[in-house]
Order: sequence, then structure tokens, then C-alpha cells
Amino acid sequence: MQEIGILGAGLIGASWASFFAAQGLNVRIYDVNETVKQKALDVARANLQGLVDLKLLTPEEMQHAVSNMRLVDSLQELLAEIDFVQESVIEDYAIKADVYREFEQHAPDTAILASSSSGLLMTRIQSVLKHPARALIAHPFNPPHLIPLVELVPGEQTAASTVETVKNYFLKLGKHPVILNKEVPGHIANRLAAAVWRESLALLDEGVASVEDIDAALCQGPGLRWAMMGQHLIYELGGGAGGYQKFIDTIGASFEEYWNDMQTWTSIPESAKQKAVAGTQAYLKQKSRSEWAAWRDEKLARIQQVLREE
Ligand SMILES: NC(=O)c1ccc[n+]([C@@H]2O[C@H](COP(=O)([O-])OP(=O)(O)OC[C@H]3O[C@@H](n4cnc5c(N)ncnc54)[C@H](O)[C@@H]3O)[C@@H](O)[C@H]2O)c1
Repeated sequence: MQEIGILGAGLIGASWASFFAAQGLNVRIYDVNETVKQKALDVARANLQGLVDLKLLTPEEMQHAVSNMRLVDSLQELLAEIDFVQESVIEDYAIKADVYREFEQHAPDTAILASSSSGLLMTRIQSVLKHPARALIAHPFNPPHLIPLVELVPGEQTAASTVETVKNYFLKLGKHPVILNKEVPGHIANRLAAAVWRESLALLDEGVASVEDIDAALCQGPGLRWAMMGQHLIYELGGGAGGYQKFIDTIGASFEEYWNDMQTWTSIPESAKQKAVAGTQAYLKQKSRSEWAAWRDEKLARIQQVLREE
């Protein structure tokens, strides 16, 4: 699949554009908002320059990638003879339904439609399509041009062959696809993030520690291991010679005690919201938001370089 359509060119769409362009593919970019669309090209260029600065791309490859990206004026132009569309429009069933209907009118029958949706259900999104077998969720993690994870979630009408094709495609492009066997809101990664976030808010709201210390307890401890191991493998090692079974048998009960004491909120209390926003200002003051993003991206790239070294 050589011809890639970026449908929706905001934060995620512009990053996807730089990812596909850096792979040497032909990328067309469309957004209903003209200003966003024009800006997307600058954002994508800046992303590519970032990859050059990190030595993940040569200046020649960047030139090639930039020349492979072009803005288009209509959905029709985006979709004519397209192979693969990465849809990143606003997270809203009605808006996605409109663009999906248009996709079907203008795209070739063989084109695949992948949605970046963070938490909507593909079964519901694809219900407006006459040929739903070729649509699936391909959920990235921000920023997709730097983070390898992509969660593939079929809807009830997605063909198994579509999932297989997209999995192999992303593997070839250097991504790390994971496949969900069934749909759940938030897929895998955002559900895990939601659990950690709720507890981060609860610890703050209950006055257990400051924003700074709660975040430090994550990134100076478990976060370092999470770059290379998930919770299951971590606790396999945590059980020593007895492995995961021993960990569950001996330490599992303590976790049950923590779970009993933890919040099970399903909405964020106003007090937690206020403390989180105010407490995080202290971090922000050290750098501007864009400086923090650049700092994050440089570290992300370097961590992955280390992980690739084996
Ligand atoms: N922000 C994140 O961290 C993140 C991470 C992973 C996935 N996502 C998912 O990516 C998608 C986009 O999120 P975002 O953060 O980039 O949002 P965003 O608001 O930055 O971008 C959405 C863009 O869609 C455009 N749009 C709306 N209707 C359109 C239409 N009919 N045709 C073309 N373009 C249209 C808007 O003009 C806007 O520029 C969402 O589904 C979201 O769940 C977001």
C-alpha cells in the first residue's frame, strides 16, 4: 500500500502524516478546517526535522519525505485511487459516520479504512458502511511518528483478512501492532492508563502526596521498567524462583488489601480536578508546553534506541 490518505490533520493526523512520509510512502492530507490543514504540513515537517535531529532520519530522507506529502482540497481528491486511509477526525460517532459514508462513495473497493479512535467502538462506526469488512480501529499512541504501539481492533463486521493485512503492513513499517480479540471502550493501553490516572488523582485528592511526588513515584520507579516489560512479566520476575504463581500466592493478598482501599470513581470529583490542574502548573513553569513536548520526544527516541540495542 503506497498511497496513504490522512483524513483529519489535527494533532494525531499530522503526526501520522510524518510517520507514513518518513517510510517513503505517498501521503495526501485533508482536513475540513483549512487553517488546520495548512498548519499540518508545517507540523509534519517539524516532526521530520525532529527525526533528523535525533538521527533517526537522514536529511536526504527528510527531503524525500517532505516531497511525498501534499495537501488536497477535497475528500474526493484524498480518496481517488487511495490504498490506505488513516482517519483521525474528531472523536464523535456522528462526525465519523459522515466521513465514512463519503469514504465509501469515493474510495476504491480495495482501500482499507483505519480509524485512530481512542475509545469508540468499530462495530458502531462501521454500521454506516455497505462494505464494513475493510474498516478497523488502528489506535496509535501520541505521538504516532515516535511511539511504536498501534492497537488493532476489529468490529463485528471487520474481515479477519483486513486485520491480518494491516498487522503485517504496520510490522513492515516498524510499528508494534497488538490485536484485540474483542471490543472494549478505551482498547488496552488507555484502560491501563485510566486505572493509573484514577489512582494518581485519588492519591492527590486524599492528600497522600503532591503532584510532583506522585508523578515521580511513577517515572522514577515502575515507569522505568514499563519501557521494556509489562505488569505480567514484571511479576513473573517479582516471584523470584517461584515465578508468577509464587508472586500471586504470597504477595497477591497485599494487593487485594490495596484494591479494597482504592477509589472506584467513575467520574472525576471537582476537588481532584482543581488540585491536579493547579499542582501541575509547577511543572509547566519550568518549560513551555512545546519545550516539554520536544524534551519528551527526544527522550522517547533515545529510550527506543537503547531498547533496539539488545
Ligand atoms: N490526542 C491524542 O492523544 C490521541 C491519541 C490517539 C488517538 N487519538 C484519536 O485521534 C483522533 C483525532 O484526535 P486529535 O487529538 O488529533 O484531534 P484534533 O481535534 O487535533 O483533530 C481532529 C481534526 O479532525 C478535523 N475534522 C473534523 N471533521 C472533519 C471532517 N468531516 N473531515 C475532515 N476533517 C475533519 C478537525 O478539523 C480537526 O483538525 C480521535 O479519534 C482521537 O480519539 C487521539
